[in-house]
Amino acid sequence: MSRDAGVILRILDNDRLRVETLQEVTSTNGFLLSRGAAGEAEGLILTADRQTAGRGRSGRSFYSPDVAGIYTSLLLRPKLTMEQIEKLTPLAAVAVCEVLEEIAGCRLQIKWVNDVYRDGRKICGILAQASPTFTNGIPDYVVMGIGINLFPPQGDFPQEIRDVAGSLWDGPVSDPLIREKIIGRLWKRFYELYQDPDDTSFVETYRAHMMLLGEEVIAYDGADGSERVARLTGLTDDYALLLQFEGESAPAEVRTGEIRIRRRL
Ligand code: BTN
Repeated sequence: MSRDAGVILRILDNDRLRVETLQEVTSTNGFLLSRGAAGEAEGLILTADRQTAGRGRSGRSFYSPDVAGIYTSLLLRPKLTMEQIEKLTPLAAVAVCEVLEEIAGCRLQIKWVNDVYRDGRKICGILAQASPTFTNGIPDYVVMGIGINLFPPQGDFPQEIRDVAGSLWDGPVSDPLIREKIIGRLWKRFYELYQDPDDTSFVETYRAHMMLLGEEVIAYDGADGSERVARLTGLTDDYALLLQFEGESAPAEVRTGEIRIRRRL
């Protein structure tokens, strides 16, 4: 076991969670999906110093340079309903906010459903990927992946994300074990939330961190590619957006797609 994995394991303090560390991997999610297909039990955490093909939502990539960030995934075999599995992404966002705010002493916000922002810039993305195989309508395994920009990367972010991307800290921090501490506390907290995904107190924490509440947003419908302006009026207890579209009498519950900021931050 590497020294890094030992530190993380001690923080996790849970027999069901195991840790592997790699210097480089194509994608921590991709690696654990393969391990899941090969029969690996629930609870394997993988962290890598860098990813050569980090994956984001909707087929996008996730910029994952060495030193500047955390790239980590957890393999689950959920004994949950599909509705509960869909809550795992927002629950991971709640865990990220709780842990990073405490460690860094800053205020974070969540842009539905899975992006975490600091001062109007995205510092963290979350990607849940299900197995291609299902039993009784439930995926056999699910991989939760979290990517965090800890520090500004050398030479700045690539041009295409420079306007949006930010980092948790503006420069280096002195604690040499800061990564391990964040990874350990993050998965420890997430694994606690995962034990009771229906707990509505987690929804309250999510609401308290939600960006753009009450504001006009652009709602993008992933199914047909259409975009409409709406007012973001709230969040249901199962983490669906409440969007008031012009000319409609009541807010619509929206569970797929994305919202974009209409105003400039
Ligand atoms: C997004 O912002 O669209 C989601 C980004 C998720 C990135 C993390 S980094 C660790 C894990 N492995 C991946 O390939 N992606 C996730």
